[in-house]
Amino acid sequence: MPARILDGRALAKERNAETARAIQERLSLAGRPPRLDVVLVGADAASAVYVRNKERAGKKVGIEGRVHDVSADITQEALAERLRALQADDALDGLILQLPLPGGLDPYPLLALIDPARDVDGFHPENTGKLLSGVPGGFAPATPLGILWILLEAGIRLQGAEVVVVSHSNLIGKPLAAMLMNHDATVTVCHVHTRDLAAHTSRADVVVTAAGVPGLITKDHIAEGALVVDAATVLGDDGVLRGDCAPDVAEKAGTLTPVPGGVGPVTVSALLHNTRLAWERRTG
Ligand SMILES: NC(=O)c1ccc[n+]([C@@H]2O[C@H](COP(=O)([O-])OP(=O)(O)OC[C@H]3O[C@@H](n4cnc5c(N)ncnc54)[C@H](O)[C@@H]3O)[C@@H](O)[C@H]2O)c1
Repeated sequence: MPARILDGRALAKERNAETARAIQERLSLAGRPPRLDVVLVGADAASAVYVRNKERAGKKVGIEGRVHDVSADITQEALAERLRALQADDALDGLILQLPLPGGLDPYPLLALIDPARDVDGFHPENTGKLLSGVPGGFAPATPLGILWILLEAGIRLQGAEVVVVSHSNLIGKPLAAMLMNHDATVTVCHVHTRDLAAHTSRADVVVTAAGVPGLITKDHIAEGALVVDAATVLGDDGVLRGDCAPDVAEKAGTLTPVPGGVGPVTVSALLHNTRLAWERRTG
């Protein structure tokens, strides 16, 4: 039987409606709408498209904000100063330094300058620590949070589930593994140096893949009826956006997320949700 396709756009629409409703309800009490600013360094085309999507989606739910375009030749210290200056404005609830940064700039000291209470991307060490310890009150990075929402939407019971994550990146694999452990799943993390990927993925109830290698996961990599979440997005020379899964995965998976229209839109919703949380906490 072909896999059930889990529609990320529909889930994103639901979550955005919840965010919009919560903002509307609290607006008069807070005295101002939530604000999310993004610092975009250099003219990376993919990042620019992603940032404009966030801006547009934010406006629709009642989040204001600005994109600060910064030249790629900015120095580390000048960029640090820019981040500090932006945060002098108390009406700023969320601040994102869009990654990746152009070569020569070290992201980690810069991410550590973002106020943890406004770190809606969840990359500040304080928020990373809270996530790892399962302590509430921080922010989970948007892509892993969106993936978790998808798993819950698919109706999977995470406690005791065998989940294989194909990524050990700071952006996706590591935070997702922590979140899944906090939900008592049995988590295996695979990556580019894993010796026999299929040996791990083929025994999993859930495979989450975010390698950025189209065709990496085939039907031979998964168990019959598995839930497969494909978070990768790779734009081919033919202009087609692909994930990691080969088309034959749909013949064997129980549930599958499409690319595009799967994890991507839910990631944006998770970011808007985090911004709403920051605003609620800061104006509470
Ligand atoms: N859907 C979204 O909202 C969203 C958000 C961010 C990133 N992405 C996509 O997710 C993908 C990964 O992004 P990233 O920033 O984490 O990348 P990254 O390069 O930092 O990490 C890639 C991970 O995949 C692993 N990997 C690479 N090749 C592999 C192979 N052949 N076998 C097994 N593992 C392999 C690497 O070891 C690493 O852990 C990209 O396609 C990116 O476009 C999607």
